[in-house]
Amino acid sequence: MFDPHSIPADPTAVNVLAGRGFEYRQIDPADEAGLQAWVQAETRGFHHARPEAPEMRRALQVARQRNVRGVYDLSAHDAHLPVATIDGWPSGLSVPGGRSVDAWAVSGVTVSPTHRRRGIARALLEAQLRYAKEAGAALAMLTATEATIYGRFGFSPAASAATVHVDRRRAHWIGPESPGRVQFVEPADLIGKAPAIARRAVARTPGEIDRWPGMLERHLGLVDPSTRESRAVRVARYDDVAGQTQGFVAFRVVRQPDEPGAVECDLFVAASDDAERALWRFLVEQDFVTEIRVRLRSVDEPLPWLLEDPRAVSLHEVGDHLWLRIIDPVAALSAREYGASGTLTLEVGDPLRHAAGTFVLDVAGDGRAEVRPAEETTDAAAGQFRSGRRSRPQAAHGLRLDARELASIYLGGTRASVLARAGRITELAPGSLALADRLFHAPRTPHLSIWF
Ligand SMILES: CC(C)(COP(=O)(O)OP(=O)(O)OC[C@H]1O[C@@H](n2cnc3c(N)ncnc32)[C@H](O)[C@@H]1OP(=O)(O)O)[C@@H](O)C(=O)NCCC(=O)NCCS
Repeated sequence: MFDPHSIPADPTAVNVLAGRGFEYRQIDPADEAGLQAWVQAETRGFHHARPEAPEMRRALQVARQRNVRGVYDLSAHDAHLPVATIDGWPSGLSVPGGRSVDAWAVSGVTVSPTHRRRGIARALLEAQLRYAKEAGAALAMLTATEATIYGRFGFSPAASAATVHVDRRRAHWIGPESPGRVQFVEPADLIGKAPAIARRAVARTPGEIDRWPGMLERHLGLVDPSTRESRAVRVARYDDVAGQTQGFVAFRVVRQPDEPGAVECDLFVAASDDAERALWRFLVEQDFVTEIRVRLRSVDEPLPWLLEDPRAVSLHEVGDHLWLRIIDPVAALSAREYGASGTLTLEVGDPLRHAAGTFVLDVAGDGRAEVRPAEETTDAAAGQFRSGRRSRPQAAHGLRLDARELASIYLGGTRASVLARAGRITELAPGSLALADRLFHAPRTPHLSIWF
């Protein structure tokens, strides 16, 4: 496993930031005070309250597993607090076909309002892309607070999510019975087996990323079990007929005194279709509640098809969620399985150079691809193709697109033909878009169910 602490500081970032009077530092996992200051700065950067001791302990545990970096203004009043934060770590990303591709997750991106718009985030993000490359990642990935920040660095939306609302009074179940059983469990009794179930759920859904140690504890209310919020967490698990746990949900019922409540669920993990159906049924058939709200669900849930009245279900906060940045097109494209066979040339532009080039995607009947760079040379710096001999024969299928568009079609969440209609992909021979749509189609709509 690649050690995220082994990456030396990016010299460009060091120099750019030093030129503006700042120090760019990696924080040693053993430097307790340094990490605490980093967590305080990151928490403030996201406009959250100062963490209490248990939450700080959890944040430190997570930070120690990552490459944590800060930018320091030594002339500031609180010079030990970074004015900017970022962290990154290697993580698997599930792709169509059930495999996981090596990716580099980026998180904790904040710049203090006192130091914004001086190019600090740009220096940090561009360095992260180089770290991703150094770590051997095929892609970099993140979730974004605002959709306007990351496109300039080559990131683009690749998997979406929505909050599913269900009107309890209209939720009459007509779906099949799941053969196993659902039962309540105390969060502490589930935590031992929860990571393995989550791993299997992640593997079957393109767009999901590996969970990190400590993540499930937080959702299960185990970080500080004494708080009112933690004590409100209820957990139910689904066991199959063999007694194996195949899924679980963690939820709260929020309600005013003497009024029916609403179910709020932030953690819905299903490693089988039976588990998914049984847990949905459990959530939507609760009495003395009017509404069920489940966050970060797929935009393509089977739930409406399981209820007599599909209009009991509505989607809210529908939008982009996982953002990808292609770093190594050959590794990324080779990792996934494809929806059809055929050969497609991709002429990829990338102003930041990482993904630029021409690549031939050759998919066999079993959906596996052989991917190779074409002989074509590119002027990667400008993200433009030089005129000259093309390795792509006149009639062969091909697309011209940027790394951003490649990121958006990669998991099958957006069709190439839609991006072509938006003027963002050029079809190089008739029929190429239709072929690309068939190739990149994924049987399961990509979906990411966590923030990171
Ligand atoms: C987003 C944030 C990190 C940007 O930091 P910054 O140091 O001000 O960004 P930079 O000065 O390096 O800006 C780089 C480019 O991004 C643009 N940009 C930065 N933040 C932006 C935003 N929120 N919306 C739109 N554009 C933004 C800048 O205009 C600049 O564009 P240009 O290079 O084309 O001129 C900072 O505003 C912040 O901490 N926000 C609150 C926390 C947050 O939302 N973090 C993102 C987590 S996903």
